[in-house]
Amino acid sequence: MIIIRRPTVDDVNSIFRLTNKMAEKGLMLSRSKYKIITMLNGFLVAEDSETKQVIGCGAFSLLWTDMGEVMALAVDDAYQKKGVGKMLVNALLDEGRRLNVPEVITLTYQVEFFKKLGFALADKDKFPRKMWRECLECPKLEQCDEIALHIFLNNEKS
Ligand SMILES: CC(C)(COP(=O)(O)OP(=O)(O)OC[C@H]1O[C@@H](n2cnc3c(N)ncnc32)[C@H](O)[C@@H]1OP(=O)(O)O)[C@@H](O)C(=O)NCCC(=O)NCCS
Repeated sequence: MIIIRRPTVDDVNSIFRLTNKMAEKGLMLSRSKYKIITMLNGFLVAEDSETKQVIGCGAFSLLWTDMGEVMALAVDDAYQKKGVGKMLVNALLDEGRRLNVPEVITLTYQVEFFKKLGFALADKDKFPRKMWRECLECPKLEQCDEIALHIFLNNEKS
């Protein structure tokens, strides 16, 4: 069974390995252990309860009072297409609901995956606050080719 839980410091290495494996494939921004430690409170991890192995992760980050972001989403190759990514994103959106944040964005290459979860295409230029954060640390910066999507939590039907 896969469980979604908040991480402890013991999970930093697993999150580091998972996210940087995806970064090596060019699928996301590479993050240092220091960065992951500073973001740890926003992370959720997916654990295989039989092996106790962390096989997925994702983070919710607050950009401002009206906007959050889903980021650093990664599911181990062997566990993909089994609903783990969906469980993680839904749990991260619950965090947005708990905080009463109306809009959540993501920057990604996985457009169809996020559309299936209720996200819609958005104009990246409408998110200047995102630029204050991790974009400044990204080598692509002005040449960003990730696609922006967003979801309005208070407009959901479910
Ligand atoms: C994107 C990612 C997190 C998806 O995780 P996953 O556990 O495989 O996704 P799920 O099994 O929960 O998929 C949920 C739905 O999306 C679909 N889906 C998953 N990945 C998809 C993709 N790349 N393209 C189209 N549909 C996709 C699934 O088929 C499933 O559809 P269904 O509900 O109709 O069956 C995973 O592929 C991954 O880690 N990718 C590499 C890192 C990355 O790109 N992260 C995103 C950075 S923001």
